[in-house]
Amino acid sequence: MIAIDKQKLLFSLHTRNTTYQLKADRHSVLVHTYYGPRVSGDMSYLIRYADRACAPNPEEAGLDRTYSLDTIPQEYSGCGVGDFRLPSLELELPGGSVSASLRYTGFELREGKYALEGLPAFRGTAEDAQTLVVFLEDAAAQVKVELYYGVFERYDLITRAVRVVNEGKRAVGLRQCASLCLDFLRSDLDLVTFDGCHMMERCPSRAPLRPGVQGVGSVRGTSSHQHNPFVVLCGHDANEDYGVCYGAMLLYSGSFQAQVERSQYDNARLVMGVNPYQFRWTLGPGEAFTAPEAALVCSPQGLGQMSRQFHRAIRERLVRDPLEGRRRPVLINNWEATYFNFNADKLAEIAETAAGLGIELFVMDDGWFGGRSDDNGGLGDWWVNTDKLPGGLEALVPRLQKLGMRFGIWIEPEMVNEDSALYREHPDWVLKIPGRAPARGRNQLVLDFSRGDVRRHIYGQIKAGLSSADVSYVKWDMNRSLTDVYSAALPPERQGEVYHRYVLGVYEMLEWLRRDFPHILIEGCAGGGGRFDGGMLYYTPQIWCSDNTDAIDRLRIQYGTSFCYPMSAVGAHVSAVPNEENGRITPMETRGAVAMAGTFGYEMDLSKASPEDRETIRRQTAFFKEHYELIQYGDYYRLSDPFRDGPYTAWEQVSPDGREALATVVAGGTRAAPSFLTLRLKGLDPDAVYRVNGGEERYSGSALMEAGCPLPVMGGDYWSLQLYLEAE
Ligand code: DGJ
Repeated sequence: MIAIDKQKLLFSLHTRNTTYQLKADRHSVLVHTYYGPRVSGDMSYLIRYADRACAPNPEEAGLDRTYSLDTIPQEYSGCGVGDFRLPSLELELPGGSVSASLRYTGFELREGKYALEGLPAFRGTAEDAQTLVVFLEDAAAQVKVELYYGVFERYDLITRAVRVVNEGKRAVGLRQCASLCLDFLRSDLDLVTFDGCHMMERCPSRAPLRPGVQGVGSVRGTSSHQHNPFVVLCGHDANEDYGVCYGAMLLYSGSFQAQVERSQYDNARLVMGVNPYQFRWTLGPGEAFTAPEAALVCSPQGLGQMSRQFHRAIRERLVRDPLEGRRRPVLINNWEATYFNFNADKLAEIAETAAGLGIELFVMDDGWFGGRSDDNGGLGDWWVNTDKLPGGLEALVPRLQKLGMRFGIWIEPEMVNEDSALYREHPDWVLKIPGRAPARGRNQLVLDFSRGDVRRHIYGQIKAGLSSADVSYVKWDMNRSLTDVYSAALPPERQGEVYHRYVLGVYEMLEWLRRDFPHILIEGCAGGGGRFDGGMLYYTPQIWCSDNTDAIDRLRIQYGTSFCYPMSAVGAHVSAVPNEENGRITPMETRGAVAMAGTFGYEMDLSKASPEDRETIRRQTAFFKEHYELIQYGDYYRLSDPFRDGPYTAWEQVSPDGREALATVVAGGTRAAPSFLTLRLKGLDPDAVYRVNGGEERYSGSALMEAGCPLPVMGGDYWSLQLYLEAE
């Protein structure tokens, strides 16, 4: 609910458990007064004014030396005029100066949630969301800034977006236009970021704010394996169940920046948005620029509640799932089974075994097109390699369908190999700096997706392929970082736009795909989890979480991923052992249990699976289907931290009514004379009595949560248990 005091120009954005408040002050500066657990009243009493040395005073303050932009909490910070902290907006004016100084001019209240043209955004109806638009202007620059706020009461979610309009007669340069600026009148906070590398993405890293600027970002043109566009600020004492936590996600799939500054008087400022690195956008007279959406959840009750709110909001208000309300199929993907070495008979052999084990969708991965026999050639030539697949998709898909399988296909539209017909014909279609030979990555170059002609050409080929057969799933991959970022189609003064225009181009093609093939489920992927972000989730309901399929490494990757993203978004497969990436051997049961903390599928040559493994797979697919709703859409609880190397890692899904739960435990390495272990559960109904795995034992919810469930003594490394709890 948005409450507006028109006299005081006070805007209170209330959700069920939180309040976000801003106010236009006596000098029309838009100040941020509060964000946290729900409160009432004008919170601007918290802002103190004092004559501080080296703190400039704006002209409107006259001789009042206590009023300085450098000490007041700003809603959207400018630059160059007296606030020395992190800027949100940097304008390059026609004379060459760089500054931004914003003052309040008005507001608009709308029912429902604003949308952003060409950009991903949470969706809301008049029933569950409201929009506040606050108008600011920089009179000297003749620039208008519109701050958008979407308020979703039920999810404790506040979204933000920014639109900058040039109302002058000359072009203005945008050097930075952040999506989010959030000032805190405190700095006793920890910053949690989600960092890693290819094969070990999104590992949480937590540290108290230190004086100065700290943060993460990407300059790779993707959100990246290395840092995720999601950060948390929380009290030093906050844990899974306790303490105020602020989660901030950016719905953006390109180079981003998230910085926090702890300033001289122990305040903190978080600024998040498109990375200003090599960014400069020319705004002609009358033109507008829209910064991507950012979304905030404040949880007064710890990190667990914050994650559950993000999960619900992402599932219900961000993701657009073509299978809405229906179960997504259990799949088999041939990548780790065959790599490039397959033909139609090999695929059919795997599919036939898979179909007999309850698997429903066959995904043909890389290597089916052009002259692609390894990863050195073929990208860009999106026609079927009929040496491998005689008769094309028209022959293959019905053959797989006869075996009872639906069909999915891998593509990597943004890339080209020099060894391809496309590159030979259009060498100028790649990102390439004049006079430099572009760097290769996986022996491929990046197509200039900022160009409409390039996008249309690639899309035309892909559309023809997808139209030639009954395709129900597409895996959209992207296997390198952007370098040599220069577009032959843009003039020199617009080269600072290429990174962002590239992302807009990717979004546009994804939207075409959704428009023309509304029934197709799209999985995002970028060398595993290199583009796992809220922007992609708007187009691709699930994303391949990591190229690392080892169940034990996955415990950490999926744990970190769960802080923002729901299980239903996490692509996870059972693969063969010894694991392809690290050589580890884990039981089939454990690999299945870990993959069930995601979208669940297999990625191995099932035709070679032993009879015992086949039996286990049959049980796993049946179990997953039976408990699908609970596993994918239940409330998620992290029960332990796999980075602490305790005796086990555990997590739990609980149905919204608390009547059912599934707890999964995965042990680390074994030892002789093990301790007796108990698992304390969460989220149950304390008064209900639960049966565990349909057995004789019955425990009250309160006992299971306060004292725990005894775990049997098991032998061997990496054993696992799935405990299905049902209230009587
Ligand atoms: C990287 C992906 O993450 C893998 O799953 C696989 O699709 C390969 N690319 C194919 O090249």
